[in-house]
Amino acid sequence: MTYNLLLLPGDGIGPEVMIETRRVLGWFSQNRNLSFAIEEDLVGGISYETHGVPATDQMMAKAKAADAVLFGAVGGPQWDKLPFEKRAERGLLRLRKDLELFANLRPALCFDALKDASSLKPEIVSGLDLLIVRELTGGVYFGEPRGISTLGDGSRRAVDTQVYTTGEVQRIARVAFELARLRGKKVASVEKSNVMHTGILWREEVQKVHDTEFPDVALTHILADNCAMQLVRNPKSLDVIVTDNLFGDILSDEAAQLTGSIGMLPSASLGAKDPKTGRQPALYEPVHGSAPDIAGQGLANPIACLLSLAMCLRYSFQRVEDARLLEQAVEHVLAEGYRTGDIMQPGMTKAGTAEMTNAILKALDKAA
Ligand code: IPM
Ligand code: MG
Repeated sequence: MTYNLLLLPGDGIGPEVMIETRRVLGWFSQNRNLSFAIEEDLVGGISYETHGVPATDQMMAKAKAADAVLFGAVGGPQWDKLPFEKRAERGLLRLRKDLELFANLRPALCFDALKDASSLKPEIVSGLDLLIVRELTGGVYFGEPRGISTLGDGSRRAVDTQVYTTGEVQRIARVAFELARLRGKKVASVEKSNVMHTGILWREEVQKVHDTEFPDVALTHILADNCAMQLVRNPKSLDVIVTDNLFGDILSDEAAQLTGSIGMLPSASLGAKDPKTGRQPALYEPVHGSAPDIAGQGLANPIACLLSLAMCLRYSFQRVEDARLLEQAVEHVLAEGYRTGDIMQPGMTKAGTAEMTNAILKALDKAA
């Protein structure tokens, strides 16, 4: 079985962490009876520089044809002033929308070796294992109308639209409940039903899906502001969080920091499984973004990208054992004391992007 992968390194530290991911892919194809057909293309600012758009139709066609997309990062200050549709981020948003990747899984796991690297007290974060399930193709990210207009008196007016349909809420709720069944069997549904109509609809629909299909899972409803507080007060009380596109964006950065560094966090963006072919569109992406301040210096933490590959092995290829192998190799090098700058602690071994991967490859060799 050969898996077709499209690699989209993108901008900033994206290419640096993607090179390391290629090395680890090489290890798996050499040692684990897995074969990959790998293509690579441009996305984001680099695509704009080359083609004048952050995502070309050709790239989109490749992404649709691939079994999975591995994505690096997009964006940088040099593209911030571009017209809205040309901005680097639009490349990523087009991939999400056109591939209908409505379910974004963002696990926040605190590795034991890193419990002192978090800005929170170790007892608050040690053993933390939570999963944010973020709706990714709806809400205020895509709602119409949107835009900036000039009013009669010369002042300007901006509008974005937060919108959800019952179908959109139900399908993301199902993903969250199904995943909760494989974990702690608890779902916290997060919205602002005290001030937003979308919040009321969200709460009602999640409750309905729960009552009719998942009564065995414990469901609570939390207002988004309160959830932000619970995440830093008692994060271990949470298991699966299901929330909309914007709240999920914000809360997942907050959850990332609990784990020590956003440089550690992987994500998976999944579409609906085709009932006939079993094919499921999927994109895997480190949560950290392009980090232009450290780009090009070999300092980036490759772990988020490598753990995204582990998610790809698990969710797209059903290679759970291989996913565990990679995750354990990461755990192993952290326990050995290897640290990139973002998670550096006194007495540990400082590693650059390539050195960290070298250590992980060595750990894989040892485990295999
Ligand atoms: C994320 C990022 C993106 C988002 C940006 C790059 C468009 O912050 O994946 O969390 O806002 O969704
Ligand atoms: Mg974000």
